[in-house]
Amino acid sequence: MPDPHLGEIVVSAEALRQRIAELGAQITADYVDRPPLLVGILKGAFMFMSDLSRAIDLQVEFDFMAVSSYGSATRSSGVVRIIKDLDLDLHDRHVLIVEDIVDSGLTQGYLRRTLMARDPASLEVCTLLLKEGLQKSDPDLKYVGFTIPPRFVIGYGLDVAERHRNLDHIVEYLP
Ligand code: IMP
Ligand code: MG
Repeated sequence: MPDPHLGEIVVSAEALRQRIAELGAQITADYVDRPPLLVGILKGAFMFMSDLSRAIDLQVEFDFMAVSSYGSATRSSGVVRIIKDLDLDLHDRHVLIVEDIVDSGLTQGYLRRTLMARDPASLEVCTLLLKEGLQKSDPDLKYVGFTIPPRFVIGYGLDVAERHRNLDHIVEYLP
């Protein structure tokens, strides 16, 4: 039976593959003389991190951080908590944050401030998705996969109450 909560496809599996290949090529060119430390933001970015890293032709290193700004609701609470911190020291590293989605920008702003305080050589953000027009402040995003309408989406790592992360495409969630 089809799931009545799944709406329109927002980004197809094929569009994801193509765009992630482009992002990987761009990152490879930009970081050719200074391989980055990829910092994946759990849990939503795990699938993007996996595919993006394979599209980068450099000796990247990996770390992961888990933050929570949502609980199980579909609206930002504005409160960001570190659930799991990084294992590696960022001092003098070229850090590339890998995010699933920027919505209000609160999580991004918090991460940037927190990680900048650890004295990296550089800090940039690669987000797969950017929601149109909802940012409370101007987020500083070097790489954006897709700009999407301000709807709640799931799939390809993104969840609602921990479900649907394993879809191979991104689809609107209908409450
Ligand atoms: P922000 O702090 O409002 O920018 O929210 C960022 C975080 O909220 C993301 O890392 C996601 O975990 C979650 N989030 C925001 N929008 C969506 C959505 O449409 N689907 C699933 N998770 C979302
Ligand atoms: Mg989530």
